[in-house]
Amino acid sequence: MFKRFFILLGIPVLVGLSLAGLEPLMAQNDEAIKAAQEERKQRFKASGASMKALYREHLPAEDYQAIKAEATVLVKWAKDMPEAFPFGSDSDNDEAKPEIWTDFEGFKSAAKAYETASLDLQKAAEQNDISLVKTAIGSVGASCKACHKKYRKK
Ligand code: HEC
Repeated sequence: MFKRFFILLGIPVLVGLSLAGLEPLMAQNDEAIKAAQEERKQRFKASGASMKALYREHLPAEDYQAIKAEATVLVKWAKDMPEAFPFGSDSDNDEAKPEIWTDFEGFKSAAKAYETASLDLQKAAEQNDISLVKTAIGSVGASCKACHKKYRKK
């Protein structure tokens, strides 16, 4: 009778203890995930601003120097992007779709397509060729949209 009572009592205590032991680890992981979400949102916002500046300012001004500078930042972000999506970093208040992690290869190739388009833009700017630049900006924009369609919540 008593023995049974202690066994029953013991289970929640043991569960409680092991959860308490895990807590710091989970909290740390939560922090890392939050930081990754914040960072990627910030860098996406910046790339949105880059696209706006390219279309509204640098393209009409044929400012190849500025175009190349923007493209360089986009290339860097494209390379870093997969790392900005650590496993499990989706949440209700975030726009990353779970498909990113069930199809991480597909997500990486979408990032690669964006990298290639941004590199083409960089090269077009180096050649001081406005029609190449225009086409390349269009391809960059298309690569943003293609990824959003598959991997970003609306
Ligand atoms: C390989 C996939 C991919 C590519 C390429 C991509 N995006 Fe995104 N983008 C996402 C995902 C996923 C989110 C949602 C991120 C989140 O909420 O954590 C997002 C979010 C955003 C946001 C919202 C950020 C915020 O304030 O929360 C903007 C703006 C954005 N992207 C702009 C762009 C632009 C501009 C480009 C191209 C120059 C681009 N993205 C290319 C996947 C991509």
